[in-house]
Amino acid sequence: MTKWPRTLALAGAGKMGGAMLRGWLDGGLDPAGVTVVEPHPAPELTALQRQRGFALNPDGGAAPDVLVLAVKPQALEAAAPTLQALAGPSTLVVSIIAGKTIADLSARFPPAKAFVRVMPNTPAAVGRGAAAGAANAAVSDLQRGWTARLMRAVGIFEWVADEGLIDAVTALSGSGPAYAFALVEAMAKAGEAVGLPADLAMRLARATVEGAGELMYREPTAPAATLRQNVTSPGGTTAAALGVLQGADGLDALMERAVTAARDRARQLSG
Ligand SMILES: NC(=O)c1ccc[n+]([C@@H]2O[C@H](COP(=O)([O-])OP(=O)(O)OC[C@H]3O[C@@H](n4cnc5c(N)ncnc54)[C@H](OP(=O)(O)O)[C@@H]3O)[C@@H](O)[C@H]2O)c1
Repeated sequence: MTKWPRTLALAGAGKMGGAMLRGWLDGGLDPAGVTVVEPHPAPELTALQRQRGFALNPDGGAAPDVLVLAVKPQALEAAAPTLQALAGPSTLVVSIIAGKTIADLSARFPPAKAFVRVMPNTPAAVGRGAAAGAANAAVSDLQRGWTARLMRAVGIFEWVADEGLIDAVTALSGSGPAYAFALVEAMAKAGEAVGLPADLAMRLARATVEGAGELMYREPTAPAATLRQNVTSPGGTTAAALGVLQGADGLDALMERAVTAARDRARQLSG
């Protein structure tokens, strides 16, 4: 595995940035090389800084090996002038900012040449994120290794060859945790419809999705289809439900429409 970058600056230590920072420090990134820029540090960030000893909002400093941009898209405009000093000619800029293309970023951080755009998701906060990234041609193998190392500290990370696919990644895994939560809501409503008290239906639906996710996590090589077949006896109750879910206009068609709508919206938002 590639080593950690020697020096790293993180701009924005909110939900995503803060989760990644914890994952990196827990995974062995040396805090002595870490700078965090965060205009209004939350008490948890200040406490983490005291425990681990990274630099928080220092004045000046040299451009790091890696600058990770984790501010909200609408904050980038205001943040860019201050952050420019952190993007040197040999700095790798890794952005998780939704909708900001590599072309946008290179225009804002002109001295830097190497850019990676990553789409993470919120389970990164519990070390179980699913992220994919695209790199421009200036990103070296070492810089690719750094990116993978950083992102794999909080979940799985994959490369896509074409930046245009980041909109599809956004639609699948970026927005995807919400689909799983919506599934719990829909299962709970269906449980109510067949006679269960609402609160019991919700507890059962929620624990079922949590448990199924955990089973899948613990059997990383078992295809989802096999796990499904394992709980489906021919002619049984699960088969009856799957006949509906996997019938014409069932879940596959619905999910394709949903993911396509998200992909199209991501395209619109990134201009
Ligand atoms: N959350 C998700 O599900 C998700 C998924 C994929 C991608 N993303 C991307 O991740 C990025 C961060 O999202 P988030 O949910 O972590 O947002 P967030 O919790 O609001 O974190 C953004 C942080 O950036 C800070 N910030 C604002 N201006 C700054 C500046 N000039 N310099 C440095 N830091 C600054 C904010 O501070 P203040 O609060 O004081 O303004 C805040 O702590 C976004 O661009 C989003 O598109 C998020």
